[in-house]
Formats: sequence, structure tokens, C-alpha cells
Amino acid sequence: MCNSYISNLVKHMPDSGIKDFFDVANSLDGALSLGVGEPDFATPKHIRDAAVASIRRADTKYTDNRGTVELRQAVAEYLEKFDLHYHGADEVLITMGASEGIDLALRTLINPGDEVLVVEPCYVSYEPCVELCGGIVAAVRTKASDRFRLTAAGLLEKITEKTKVLLMSFPNNPTGAIMEKEDLEAVAEIVKAHNLFVISDEIYAELTYGKKHVSIASLPGMAERTLVLNGFSKAFAMTGWRLGFAAGPKDVIFYMNKIHQFTTMSAGTTSQYAALEALKNPVREAELERMRTEYDKRRGVMVRGFLDMGLDVAVPEGAFYVFPSVAPLGMDSQEFCRQLLQEQRVAVIPGDAFGACGDGFVRCSYAYSEDVIRKCLQKIAAFVQSR
Ligand SMILES: Cc1ncc(COP(=O)(O)O)c(C=O)c1O
Repeated sequence: MCNSYISNLVKHMPDSGIKDFFDVANSLDGALSLGVGEPDFATPKHIRDAAVASIRRADTKYTDNRGTVELRQAVAEYLEKFDLHYHGADEVLITMGASEGIDLALRTLINPGDEVLVVEPCYVSYEPCVELCGGIVAAVRTKASDRFRLTAAGLLEKITEKTKVLLMSFPNNPTGAIMEKEDLEAVAEIVKAHNLFVISDEIYAELTYGKKHVSIASLPGMAERTLVLNGFSKAFAMTGWRLGFAAGPKDVIFYMNKIHQFTTMSAGTTSQYAALEALKNPVREAELERMRTEYDKRRGVMVRGFLDMGLDVAVPEGAFYVFPSVAPLGMDSQEFCRQLLQEQRVAVIPGDAFGACGDGFVRCSYAYSEDVIRKCLQKIAAFVQSR
């Protein structure tokens, strides 16, 4: 009945392709899933304890809009490990997850009609968030043959006089691709030559297998034209705490905080205390390594599983996803996922949920126990064999 009141922009916005699949999977008895990109680990106990202690102390008021001084400082110190140098005081903003950072960054930078280069396949919120602020999405497609890395040629092809921002995420969801220093150097040259600004979502920076994450902001001349987004959800198994951060030039942070103060006020205080503990406790690196080692093991099981089925898969070097190609089976992503769910009761995500160029692929998360992964692989193999 209220339909006529809803804004056209929101009315015509497609639902998340991920959510659609969950709704079906959840309604099926005994369905297994490799669908969710959420760590299966519990948030480490000392982090939970620090949150409880802050509540017991009644440290439950609003904080500074930008986040507590201590946490912003701790974030700045933490980012040094990626060769990034920020002042906690005015170059860091604590957000409600990287999700809020993406939205704030786009709304801060984009005027209606500005073009945003979105490197695809990509996280499901990028396109809708660009559109919500009147920006135009220019999809920059990455290809399996390039190991899903962004290439200079791919980028150049999409630049026009209206292009303002490059939005990308490496390590990538859904492909697991990373960018090495040389790859980023080529991109940085183009960004500088065309006077673009980069939003670099580095939420999976801690989850690389073998090669250390490189941030584009650490390259010469890039810090002043890059906003780095990151958070606690993936590396620290803290999805539900809704805590992330943005680090970048102080004027960009200043204007992002202008929106943040009116829409959010400040990120959750209890979560900020938990995050401070996550960064400050010396067990941090050991904990990250423990989770990374486990993901790496599962990654091996997953990649082997798909190769044994005869499906092509670019070996993921980061995040916790594999993105095998199902095109040789003569099905598009949606068909594959729908039929797999119906016949074998296993949920994986159609690649086109992450942008049109993801069609012909499916995303499988290995943020699940090895036992669940093995059971799912068996069922997927049976499905593939029956085709
Ligand atoms: C690339 C990417 N960016 C951002 C997010 C959202 O992160 P957060 O929980 O910090 O909002 C996700 C979650 O899956 C993601 O994959």
C-alpha cells in the first residue's frame, strides 16, 4: 500500500544475490552451505572479556564521533605493518564496519553523474552504494586468465573525462585474487596520470597465503589520493561487533565524519573497547596466524576438490573464497546454484551476484569447518558428475 511513497532509486534496487540464496537454503531441511563469508571462529576470549569489562565499568556512553582517541591511535599504529603512516588524531575514522566506510566514502566523494570505476567481480554493496549517491558505475572486469587481477589495460579502457574514483578490493571477494606490488604500481601510474581518487577496501589484508598484502596507499604519491578501508570482521572474527575503520587524507576523513556524526553519531562503544583489545594485546599476531593457517589448510582442500571434479579454478591467494568456473557444464551461475541446491542441498553463491562478469562462476567460502567443506565437495562432485 505504501509502495507509492518509496523512492524510485530504492524501489528499483535489486536485492542482494547472496541474500536471495540464503532465504532458499534456510527454508530447506538439512541443507549445507558454503555461502557465507563469515569466519566460523568465535571472537577470541580476551577480546570478549575486554568488552564485558568495559560494560562493567559502565563505559557505555557515546564516544567522540570519530571513535576513541586510543582506538584511532591503535589503528594508526596497526597500519604501520602495511607500510601505511597515518595520524590517529585526524586521519582515522572508526566506522560501523567497512560497510559504513564504503557508504561514507562514496557519499563524501561523489557528485551526481560522476563515474566510479568498480573493479568486478566485487563485494555486493559497491554498485548499490554508488547508485545511491547518484554516481555512475563503470565496471572494470577482471578475468580468470589474469588471475582476476586488475590490469592497466582493463583500467584504461574504462576511464572517461567523468571518471573520479577507483573502487577496488584486494584480496578480493569473491575471487580470492590479490595484487602484488608491480600490479599496483601500474595501476597507481594511471590513477595519478588521470588524477583519480582510490577507495581501497582492504578488509582481507590479513588473509593472504604466502605473499604479504600490499596496500596501494603505500606506493609513492598514493597516500594523498587513497582512502583505505578495513575492519575487524574478517581478521579478528568480529563480524557482529560491526566495527571498521577508514584511514586517509585528513580532509576526506573530516568530511566523512560530517556524514557519520549525523547518521551514526559514533560506532558502538563496547565494540570499540573490544577492538582496542584486539589490536593492543600482544597475542594479536599469534591469533591471526592461527586462523590464517587454518584457512590456508581449507583452501588447499577446496582447490583440490574442484580440480578433481575437472573444473577450472584460479588458485585464490587471499580472503577465504574460491571461484571455480562452471561454464563448461553448459549452465549459467544461477542455474548451477539453483539445481545444486535442489538436488544436493548445498548452497553456493552465483558469481553474477558480484557483477555481471561473475556469470559462469560460483563463489564457495572456506570460512567453514573442514568437515563441512569435505561433505559439500562430495555433493558438488556428485552433481557435476551427473551432468
Ligand atoms: C570486500 C568486503 N568489504 C566489506 C565487507 C563488509 O565488512 P564489514 O563487516 O566490516 O562491514 C565485506 C563482507 O563480506 C567484504 O567482503
